[in-house]
Amino acid sequence: MNASEPGPLETIRRVGEEARSELRGAVTAESLAKAKSSIFGKTGSLPKLMGLLASAAKDQKREVGQAINVLKIELEALLAEQSALLGPATLASLGEDISLPGVGGRVGRLHPLTRMERRVVQVLGSLGFEPTEGPEIEDEFHNFVALNIPADHPARDESDNFYLAGVPYLLRSQTSTVQIRTMRDRSRKPPYRVCAPGRVFRPDEVDATHFYMFHQVEGLAIDRNLSMADLKATLISLFQSLLGEGIELRLRPSFFPFTEPSAEIDVRMPGRGWMEVGGSGMVDPAVLAAVGLDPEEWSGFAFGLGLERLAMRRFGVKDIRLFTENDLRFLQQMEGAS
Ligand code: DAH
Repeated sequence: MNASEPGPLETIRRVGEEARSELRGAVTAESLAKAKSSIFGKTGSLPKLMGLLASAAKDQKREVGQAINVLKIELEALLAEQSALLGPATLASLGEDISLPGVGGRVGRLHPLTRMERRVVQVLGSLGFEPTEGPEIEDEFHNFVALNIPADHPARDESDNFYLAGVPYLLRSQTSTVQIRTMRDRSRKPPYRVCAPGRVFRPDEVDATHFYMFHQVEGLAIDRNLSMADLKATLISLFQSLLGEGIELRLRPSFFPFTEPSAEIDVRMPGRGWMEVGGSGMVDPAVLAAVGLDPEEWSGFAFGLGLERLAMRRFGVKDIRLFTENDLRFLQQMEGAS
């Protein structure tokens, strides 16, 4: 190599200096376009530097390559900066099509049912109910026996349940199973309040308001001296938070094998009709005794809510099947809902 010739790194430095001052001095669209082509163009100063890489000594190639790359990145940033200063007209004159749509990312959202479930659990949490859960595949003990549902009760019927073939298990038909699991859990000492969201399964005829799988949120409170007044106050707070202060709540006498007394929960929003949103009641003393809680000392209230129905009312959804069809048009419509 001729001693008077600069080394490759020195050449890169000089080219960089020149390019930098050319870009900074380009204050009109024309001069910026000219600078761009003299630096980045086919025969521009940057591509020319690549020749240095080919002729560099073996042990210098790495360093030379890196220096060229660093300079290229720096000059590209400087070009972008200068174009931004000059505005869109300049971008257009540089051959960038500014009318093209941007490449924004698509942001996903939680499913409307997931959002509804989280809201219910959050409100119940603020009322002291700790979230818990139970399995979707259950045994007959938790799904029926411990809930006081006798062997000849129609709720046990094969045509009303998804029994697993050849084993004494079924897909749970209600989240009330979690009441039993909670009360039998010896690591829990009353008083306590828990809630349990989850999927339940019933082979219902599918139509706009029935599906073979849906979601419930179960609530259970065990304490001394609980009454229907505690149940009702809890439900009123819950539904005021979910549907607005103006709601009315009605407990309609009913029957469930595991509560005594039992009541359907009806809610009415201002100017609307009554809507049944779930079942409730005082935990039957026989159920308390069966799980080993002394009914003389402890009392409980419980409720189970259907999430789909709530979500349909809140989001104005007319057909329950929409929730599971994965139709993006529906899901996108739901994006704004909360
Ligand atoms: N498990 C009942 C159902 O699926 C709903 C229910 C009624 C839950 C009364 C309760 C309750 O906790 O106390 O229809």
